[in-house]
Amino acid sequence: MREYKIAAIPGDGIGMEVIAAGLKVLGVLAGRDRGFKLNVEHFPWNSDYYLKHGHYIPAGGLDKLKTFDAIFFGAVGAPNVPDHLSLWGLRLPICQGFDQYANVRPARVLPGITSPLTGGAGIDWVVIRENSEGEYSGSGGRVHKGLPEEIATETSVFTRNGCARIHRFAFELARKRPRKHLTLVTKSNAQRHGMVMWDEIFYEVAKDYPDVETQRILVDAMTTLMVLKPHTLDTMVASNLHADILSDLAAALSGSLGIAPTANLNPERKFPSMFEPIHGSAFDITGKGIANPIATFWTASMMLEHLGEKEAAVRLMEAVETVTAKKIHTPDLGGEATTEIVTSAVCDAI
Ligand code: IPM
Ligand code: MG
Repeated sequence: MREYKIAAIPGDGIGMEVIAAGLKVLGVLAGRDRGFKLNVEHFPWNSDYYLKHGHYIPAGGLDKLKTFDAIFFGAVGAPNVPDHLSLWGLRLPICQGFDQYANVRPARVLPGITSPLTGGAGIDWVVIRENSEGEYSGSGGRVHKGLPEEIATETSVFTRNGCARIHRFAFELARKRPRKHLTLVTKSNAQRHGMVMWDEIFYEVAKDYPDVETQRILVDAMTTLMVLKPHTLDTMVASNLHADILSDLAAALSGSLGIAPTANLNPERKFPSMFEPIHGSAFDITGKGIANPIATFWTASMMLEHLGEKEAAVRLMEAVETVTAKKIHTPDLGGEATTEIVTSAVCDAI
């Protein structure tokens, strides 16, 4: 029996609801396959915990997490804690501390789900987000706080190593997909240093992948391309901030933010990777039982694939698609189903 240690961090808001749903589905899947077992340990680190203890991750917490095979993460962010504190208190220390530099965000219109675009059925993309530096490097500061002279800087950091490894990761992923097509997203026309190097290194790495077709698009033009010619795109690599924005657009165009999954990968597997739905804590619908668990199920499928349980990963997505095809949808997709109803339907389909 193959066994994996999973750290579950449900976090805030609907994170708790969807991670519970995800673990239920994973439990059914593991039981059904009998080939593997997930040993899940729960970590209560969220904003309530922060308000009580003064920190999200306790001393030694990251060392403990390091011993797991994967992290199954819900969401972080609460109305009573400033967002930059919650994000830098929980999610970013894990992403950066565990060098999860490759953030993978697939977008596809699942059966039974309607894209807001007429030609949206053509969407089958993977957004690859640089996840360790760029605009999220945390480099900068504030001087003369509160005075009229106050200055705040937020420096984008692009390193040769950081650019090379994410571009290489993107080429490897693009090569595995049928179309072998990779779009470099940039803004090097308006930024003279970091993004210029970002582009240069892309073309250096490209030499090793003559079989992958490439295209370079400015990020603003990219938004129009995604809306107007979605079928021309396949795999795309973008900086931390650009891909953050484009991946929300990708999710909306494929039907709902409620279905979009993500994997924060440490491709070298020196540290555990982290898997989470993109949607966030969504306090407006927390506790109503209507959070869409599909993003978390898709995320769970990516986690299984990363663990090497390819067959179970495929089976889970088949079950998800069986359920979406029947239009058993939560309200974000125009339906009336609850989290519970969708979860039971996926369990039955498995
Ligand atoms: C995401 C989210 C986060 C991000 C938020 C919660 C800060 O939008 O994972 O895309 O911007 O990275
Ligand atoms: Mg985002």
